[in-house]
Amino acid sequence: MLQAIADIVREAGEIVRSAGNIAAKTHEKTSAADLVTEYDVAVEAFLKERLLALVPDAVFFGEEEALQGDPAKGWTFIVDPIDGTTNFVRGYHQSGISVALAKDGAVEYGVVYDPAKEEMFTAQRGKGAFLNGQPIHVSDKPLSQGIFIMGTAIYNRKYLQPTMCLTTQLFARSCDFRRFGSAALDLCYVACGRGELFFEYSLSPWDYAAGSLIVTEAGGVASTLEGAPLPILSRCSVWMCNKVNREVLRELKV
Ligand code: IPD
Ligand code: CA
Ligand code: CA
Repeated sequence: MLQAIADIVREAGEIVRSAGNIAAKTHEKTSAADLVTEYDVAVEAFLKERLLALVPDAVFFGEEEALQGDPAKGWTFIVDPIDGTTNFVRGYHQSGISVALAKDGAVEYGVVYDPAKEEMFTAQRGKGAFLNGQPIHVSDKPLSQGIFIMGTAIYNRKYLQPTMCLTTQLFARSCDFRRFGSAALDLCYVACGRGELFFEYSLSPWDYAAGSLIVTEAGGVASTLEGAPLPILSRCSVWMCNKVNREVLRELKV
């Protein structure tokens, strides 16, 4: 199943890689910070058709289309066709395709693919996490020797102040931080040890469903900023880190 999902996602990556005239195919959703391109819609339509052919009785829960069915029961695909749309539109080549397959509300398979770098992150519950077929693990660095990755919860400006407050606290304890602009890839970077920790005050299930399994299968921990398990259906804050830094969250003013 994992291989079949990864093959479909890799094919979808060709739509992203071959995209042309992106600016002319971009529209604002709710604001200038909230964009959708015709490629987001095309990738989601491709994934929906191919993934539902693979698991016909699954519910499809994608960012660009209204949900039909109950994702808490049976099989559900949770899909972000392009995570990092602004990066895609602006030519940063830092975007991911994120697909999770959950059973009865628990993610069993996770695939995140970076079509520009051809990096395929995969995980199956209980079977470990991989980058292009090689096992990956979170780093063993404490934050004092490490980098944290953060997101700015762009669609909910009320989180600006808390985001900056947490960034200030973590910066004081770390070497540096990064803001890459694709939460799904950010999580995979924690999973493979390119960063020690990630946080964002508000993400949707399609941003973190696949990445959270990849992080936990790589030996990391995942929760909300309140320390609760990540929900599968609703927006929430997200915290992920390697094991060494698991106590850091409790020491911060969130
Ligand atoms: C966004 C990206 C970004 C994060 C936002 C997400 P999108 O996803 O993951 O890094 O900061 O909160 O919504 O809109 O590009 O799919
Ligand atoms: Ca996203
Ligand atoms: Ca998206």
